Amino acid sequence: MTRKYMEDKQSILIVDDDTSTRNLIADALKEKNLYYIRKADNGIKALELFQEKPCDLIISDLKMPGMNGIELLNRIHEINPTTSIIIITGYPSVDISVLAMKSGAIDFLEKPFKIDDLLFKVDICMKERLALGKKDLDIKIDMARLNNKIEELSMIGYIYDNIEKTGSNNDEVFQEIAALALKVTGGESCSLVLFDEDNNAFYPQIVKNRNDGDCNKEKVTSLYAIFRDVAQKKEAVLTNSNGDTGLFKSLLCAPLMIRNKVFGLLSIINNKMEKQFTQKDLNYISSLSRRASLNIENRMLYESVFTSIMDTFMSLIHSIHARDHYTERHSINVSSLAVKTATAMHLSTDQIECLKISGMLHDIGKIAIPDSILLKPGRLTNEEYNIIKTHPSTGEDILSHIKLFDSEKKVIRHHHERWDGKGYPDGISGEDIPLLSRILAVADTFDAITNDRPYRKGLPVDTAINELNRNRNLQFDETVVNAFISTL
Ligand SMILES: [Fe+2]
Repeated sequence: MTRKYMEDKQSILIVDDDTSTRNLIADALKEKNLYYIRKADNGIKALELFQEKPCDLIISDLKMPGMNGIELLNRIHEINPTTSIIIITGYPSVDISVLAMKSGAIDFLEKPFKIDDLLFKVDICMKERLALGKKDLDIKIDMARLNNKIEELSMIGYIYDNIEKTGSNNDEVFQEIAALALKVTGGESCSLVLFDEDNNAFYPQIVKNRNDGDCNKEKVTSLYAIFRDVAQKKEAVLTNSNGDTGLFKSLLCAPLMIRNKVFGLLSIINNKMEKQFTQKDLNYISSLSRRASLNIENRMLYESVFTSIMDTFMSLIHSIHARDHYTERHSINVSSLAVKTATAMHLSTDQIECLKISGMLHDIGKIAIPDSILLKPGRLTNEEYNIIKTHPSTGEDILSHIKLFDSEKKVIRHHHERWDGKGYPDGISGEDIPLLSRILAVADTFDAITNDRPYRKGLPVDTAINELNRNRNLQFDETVVNAFISTL
């Protein structure tokens, strides 16, 4: 057979670990003298032959060691989506046949089969391919690749969107990453394990099944050798084992990294033959782990910047405390009372967090008030009182230099406004006053009454409650007063 003659003929690759079936099909097809025939005794060998030179049709057994027919089908279609594939099996089931057809097989035959039936199917398939011609097949390949790319990009977009929406603490983030990994790959179980490179130690955070929820974290220890390998290579891997390892049939594992240092490993397992992962799943899990790593890094960066700014502010509060022992304890009390009230009012987590910080920092503007006024035991003159009244706007000014405190600065500016509009600094009234400032005002007054001041001893709780009730709809928002009293 000359090379030219080989290339002119349509080509068929027969894949079966059973020698007699393989030879039976090959001999029958050779008799027709229409096709160039090659044979492989397993999926891995078949893939190698296909990569050397593609073919028009693959006739493949389903159950083979190393790589089964469905996985071979998936891998072949990743290379050339128009290659025709007929699957043959001695273990037929409706699920398997549906899966084969869904995965892109053009036909499905049960063993034992009549060789003439197979020859008939081959004949139809090859005639259709000839009728389509090379140009049409190339267009089909381009279309299939384009559709694949669109599907992949839209899935990666979906992954990115979901990662952006993940929760506010690491536990929630890990839970959501694991759930997303199961969803995009169709995996059965998933684990997220933290890795301490210096001590070569793993700390399982999440081990969950798709249906049963959380499961025993010990289960994951059998995968540590694979995790070590992935942590060393710093690259996601796909391993299909047909169950040879006794641990899994199909596994995806991707490193979670910050600045090229592996801090965790995400792994997903499938144990059903018909659900082996593909190159596409590997791409999804690589994108997911990279995006999640970036998200965690940003979060850590934000937390460290935020903590250092809060430390600076707290040292400012502390410096007021050095002058006025009342202020620091008062800040802590107001923050805690305001958070309890906001919780009773079912406000959002973001609002509660904002109130917690605003409560701590609400009197930070007092840093600019001279000791002679701040610590004065007697009554203040009008002029002195006007200086005291600058502390909410000074507080706002201090916070306005840092973008992170945008919502807090507004709350702090208005914490001395009154419901009736007679407060300061802007004299706004009713619902024009930010809700969180109205809560802060009630907490502030309650704590001021019940705790010792420079000029008098703290008064009983009942006195403070009476004062709040007396000032409903005058100084305070009635709804807030009710919620506040309900928490005592
Ligand atoms: Fe204040």
